Amino acid sequence: MTIPFVDLKTQFEAIESDIRKNIDKVLAHGKYVMGPEIAELESHLAQFAEVKHVVSCSSGTDALLMPLMAWGVGKGDAVFTTPFTFFATAEVIGLLGATPVFVDVDPVTYNIDPGNLEQAILEIKKEQNLRPRVVIPVDLFGLPAEYDAIEKIALEHDILVLEDAAQSLGAEYMGRKAGSFGHAAATSFFPAKPLGCYGDGGAVFTNDDELAENLTSIRVHGQGGDKYQNIRIGLNARMDSIQAAILMAKLKVFPEEIEKRRSLAKTYNTNLSGLVKTPSVSDGMKSAWAQYSILCEKRDRLREELAKADIPTAIYYQKPLHLQPAFGYLGHKPGSFPVSEELSGKILSLPMNPYMTGEQTDVVIGAVRNALGERAVKYK
Ligand SMILES: Cc1ncc(COP(=O)(O)O)c(C=O)c1O
Repeated sequence: MTIPFVDLKTQFEAIESDIRKNIDKVLAHGKYVMGPEIAELESHLAQFAEVKHVVSCSSGTDALLMPLMAWGVGKGDAVFTTPFTFFATAEVIGLLGATPVFVDVDPVTYNIDPGNLEQAILEIKKEQNLRPRVVIPVDLFGLPAEYDAIEKIALEHDILVLEDAAQSLGAEYMGRKAGSFGHAAATSFFPAKPLGCYGDGGAVFTNDDELAENLTSIRVHGQGGDKYQNIRIGLNARMDSIQAAILMAKLKVFPEEIEKRRSLAKTYNTNLSGLVKTPSVSDGMKSAWAQYSILCEKRDRLREELAKADIPTAIYYQKPLHLQPAFGYLGHKPGSFPVSEELSGKILSLPMNPYMTGEQTDVVIGAVRNALGERAVKYK
């Protein structure tokens, strides 16, 4: 039996006629760039995340970059984020000449620790070399960050919040939807994401009218009122009409898929807790389960044994960002962010997709149990 880590083939088979119908419409009207599907998708996404504006774009990376550009973030600015995330979260900060200020994560949620965030802001203020401007909390593996605490700290210190919701569309925090936190949120439609297109794509979510207008301009070379006027330096960061058409077909089944992800996570939790450290989701939170990630003392050995049993796994993330050569200029050393470093050595993501059958789930659980056997470390 083959067990895909992410099963795009079965998903396609389930919604093939809708996807083909939507793509055919684009082929018929021929507006491949900024066709009517773009505004339609944006309006559906705004409804889904309960925000006023959605500006679609070419990737999750551009969705992070564009609000920072709109806010004029650059040299001399401190932008706070975690080192336990995908490279793009901090890459966009460096790209604009601003300084990424890493803040260690909480050992239970793997998301930015609000206490550490406040301390980092105070330190930057004391040193007076950089201006604290923005925090980018990441909703890692689909679990929203601690927004009540983060938004309070941001307000107190007059900094902006950009939610990295690349992995969390479909998640909830105290009744609020992922994508609706802070001043803006960025998501990714990379194919392997819970809501993915068939290439690269992304979107920015915001309730701020002025920001939405600026993002729309930045997305197309800083265009002004007409096509021949450029009022700022921007990007070519549009989403293709065909990708929007695909996303619209996928959005229809997305709520159902999220429920299936939740049910699979529950089954994993029930069968694996005690053997490995299973993910915790506190009261008032609903994860989108972009990944189901466990902690295991003997992670590499477990991974090898699962590979022998043809069970695909992934490690998000092997190396925290402060230890990546590209951020060497920041001068961090091993030990600078101990929680992130420890997680990097123990984390392992198991197959997680809404199309996993009960039989496939049993095989994964059986293989993990088999591999750990008596050697399993008992977690509380
Ligand atoms: C947390 C996080 N931020 C940003 C990104 C960047 O998204 P994209 O690959 O669409 O540029 C990703 C996706 O891989 C991600 O997981």
